[in-house]
Amino acid sequence: MKTALALFTALVTLGQTFGASDPGLAAWHLDNLYFLSNERLDPIVAPNGVASHLHRIVGGSNFGANYNYDQYAASGCTTAAVQADDSNYWMPQLFWKENSTYTPIKAGHRFYYFLHRNKPDEPVKAFPPGLRILVGNLNAKSQAETGLPQGVFNFVCLKDHFITPSGDKSGPDFNFATDCPQGLVTTVRFSTCWDGKNLYRTDGSHMAYTDNLQFGFCPVSHPVRLPGIMLEYTWQTYNLRPGVPLKGKLVWANGDTTGYGLHADFVNGWDTDVLNQALNDPGCLTGEMTMTACPTLALHTNNQAAVACKPARGVLETVEDFKPITSLPGCNKEWSSGAKPTCSPAVPNPDVPSGLKGTDGSLVYTGPSMLPDDNDPPNTWTRKGCIGGPSSLNNSFTYSDAALTQAKCQNTCAEWGMPWAGLNAGQYCICGSDVDQSAYHWSDGQCNSPCKGDSSKTCGGNGKLEMFHNPSATTIKHAGVTDPQYIGCRRQGTTGPALTAASISYQSTMTVDFCKQYCTAQKQRYAALSLGRTCTCGNAWANNGGTPMPQDTCNVPCNGNNKQLCGSMTISLSTYDLSLPGGSSPSGGSTGITSSSTSASSAPSGAVTVTKTVTVTAACSPPAHKRRAHRDFRA
Ligand SMILES: *[C@@H]1O[C@H](CO)[C@@H](O)[C@H](O)[C@H]1NC(C)=O
Ligand SMILES: *[C@@H]1O[C@H](CO)[C@@H](O)[C@H](O)[C@H]1NC(C)=O
Repeated sequence: MKTALALFTALVTLGQTFGASDPGLAAWHLDNLYFLSNERLDPIVAPNGVASHLHRIVGGSNFGANYNYDQYAASGCTTAAVQADDSNYWMPQLFWKENSTYTPIKAGHRFYYFLHRNKPDEPVKAFPPGLRILVGNLNAKSQAETGLPQGVFNFVCLKDHFITPSGDKSGPDFNFATDCPQGLVTTVRFSTCWDGKNLYRTDGSHMAYTDNLQFGFCPVSHPVRLPGIMLEYTWQTYNLRPGVPLKGKLVWANGDTTGYGLHADFVNGWDTDVLNQALNDPGCLTGEMTMTACPTLALHTNNQAAVACKPARGVLETVEDFKPITSLPGCNKEWSSGAKPTCSPAVPNPDVPSGLKGTDGSLVYTGPSMLPDDNDPPNTWTRKGCIGGPSSLNNSFTYSDAALTQAKCQNTCAEWGMPWAGLNAGQYCICGSDVDQSAYHWSDGQCNSPCKGDSSKTCGGNGKLEMFHNPSATTIKHAGVTDPQYIGCRRQGTTGPALTAASISYQSTMTVDFCKQYCTAQKQRYAALSLGRTCTCGNAWANNGGTPMPQDTCNVPCNGNNKQLCGSMTISLSTYDLSLPGGSSPSGGSTGITSSSTSASSAPSGAVTVTKTVTVTAACSPPAHKRRAHRDFRA
């Protein structure tokens, strides 16, 4: 036991970013985890059938050929000392090959749950009922073919671990050119971040690793942080052939002699209430500890029950540790490269007894949402952390404001019907419809730029967005303007005018009505007013112009009608889409702001609502255009 404890300490230290008392460092391990069965069953990959090779299985007694959470969670016992965990865990059986025989090697089993939090209030949630996780590629013959980050698999050859742990050998596969007097450790780290929707995907896409495997940050696509399982089997090679180097002697149950065909599986059978309670029990989050040192889990611990636990639904076959056999069960010839060797004649499969068969559970989660965004309150901007980079919002637009505050950016995003507001580098506001799913949540400390307009708050950081979410901000509302053809305050082009087909400038008589009339006569779709006096027309936005701006930056009254707004003295334009219905009669005088005030910020309500599709599409047409706009803003 001490052996693996030392390994454990080393692993946790690698990921350390917190002080000793911080729950961010919490991790559990369970040493009292006993053998359940060794058989060709795999309820994930081969439901109700025979798996292609042997698995060494630990956990709940209701293990069978199918997987159904309700059935598994109702197991009468589990080989895990914590009897509230009726999950099953497995990896392939390891064999020693010599003298034309294959000898199943006995193993000790344990697992770890890494409960890393990046800040004390970041939740680590219980596995959802029905979750299945499979790690690894049983056909892999190299690290690259596993498709996994380095470190998911680890092999350690224990030499004289208690006295000189530094003498242990570690490697990416099991072919050590030495013997392992205290055993061969294989560890598999499971992915930690869940998509909140799928209980299993064959491509594994329902789960993701953090940015640094297990201790880091979850990607936005997989925002639900679960305990990070590490399954560890210590194979007793020393009991079988003491002193003999491992190289060339080992083979996984599927015939793989390289070691890279390792894979491991988890099917959830936890009593979810107990696990959630433990994950929120401060006494269980004080650092590294055995599971039984957690008071909540101690109540459910019974080592005698774990030792005595046997498969309740029967077994497919029996393979005894250290008892040699002449071929690997199934069609599993030794295999070190190329295509998997076939068997002729085909190897017959055993029949699966009906007791081992059953109904499979759903592949999609239907319980109460565990997605953090789904639980955000309406009409409120909720801080979502420090996320990704400036391009991590979809359908976005950016503007800069030398006096930016969090509230100003949020108001602008709400005005434009964008539920996501990201602030960057103290002065950029980026509004978007969605967050790029591949972005990561970073630590709050990386959003450290004071807001230019309120230094008491931060507005993002170097390449990181201070992100806020408001689920209700999905409808465009331009407060204070009643004209239904009004499509908001928008940006002038960065390399020339935003509209280029026609323009006319009247020093003293410009009005919205005249400009609309003029652009109609010019047969153009859009009309834009600026500087109180200039009217430009076009059928499409040019020169990166036309992107949304805050309504209150269109603050200059028209020279010919001070009840109307004609853009700004800088880059903001008051814009109209003449193809929209309901424009006021060009000869009428009622168009424009409804207040006698000349300041838009004090304009009364009377908002016009334009559907999001119409205007946002117009504002943010091609992606290339958006990218250029971003660069120009930051130049
Ligand atoms: C293989 O045969 C040799 C020689 O008889 C013996 O020493 C060794 O233990 C055998 N290996 C196994 C795994 O039985
Ligand atoms: C956001 O944009 C990325 C990259 O263009 C795309 O892959 C993703 O599907 C988009 N997400 C949403 C929710 O539209």
